[in-house]
Amino acid sequence: MANVQKARKGDLPSLRHIIRNSGVFNDEEQAVAIELVEAALNKEQEDKDYKLLTATRDGGSVVGYICYGPTPMTEGTWDVYWIIVSARNRGRGLGRELLRGTEAAIRKQGGKRVIIDTSTQTSYLAARALYESCGYRAVATVPNYYKTRWHRVTFYKKL
Ligand SMILES: CC(C)(COP(=O)(O)OP(=O)(O)OC[C@H]1O[C@@H](n2cnc3c(N)ncnc32)[C@H](O)[C@@H]1OP(=O)(O)O)[C@@H](O)C(=O)NCCC(=O)NCCS
Repeated sequence: MANVQKARKGDLPSLRHIIRNSGVFNDEEQAVAIELVEAALNKEQEDKDYKLLTATRDGGSVVGYICYGPTPMTEGTWDVYWIIVSARNRGRGLGRELLRGTEAAIRKQGGKRVIIDTSTQTSYLAARALYESCGYRAVATVPNYYKTRWHRVTFYKKL
């Protein structure tokens, strides 16, 4: 069984490893994901813009994470910025647990709705399926946002 909990500073090497080996992100995307994780683990940033939950299994090893935070200049809107489950642990419900844990944490802090932006590219098919299976609805598309034929899709869920 997996556990979902707040990330700790010592998780950084595992998180970097998960990002570098996701099989989905190019170098630039990996760099941004790592920057975000570092910002979220930074003490001054803690409990501010970026929050991190990790999924751990068995011996406590980190096998996935989710990064989210309150959307600036909104009332009750939160963003999920990134979610990754390590390749060998996919398809076991960990992504769903991370998303559910995030929703519970957002609710606790008075959040009313969650937004997730993603791309229509094939390699994000699992992510889109995860969001839909957790009750998110695609509410907007920006054509060719990431590059030609890679549109941005915004998923939305009212909590
Ligand atoms: C997206 C991701 C986090 C899903 O994590 P996961 O732990 O494998 O997902 P779960 O096992 O919790 O799946 C929950 C539901 O999502 C859907 N789903 C997940 N992976 C799927 C896939 N490959 N194909 C179709 N549906 C899928 C299913 O509806 C599934 O429910 P089911 O198993 O009852 O059918 C994982 O595939 C991943 O890390 N992908 C690479 C990183 C990425 O694309 N991140 C998102 C962009 S930032």
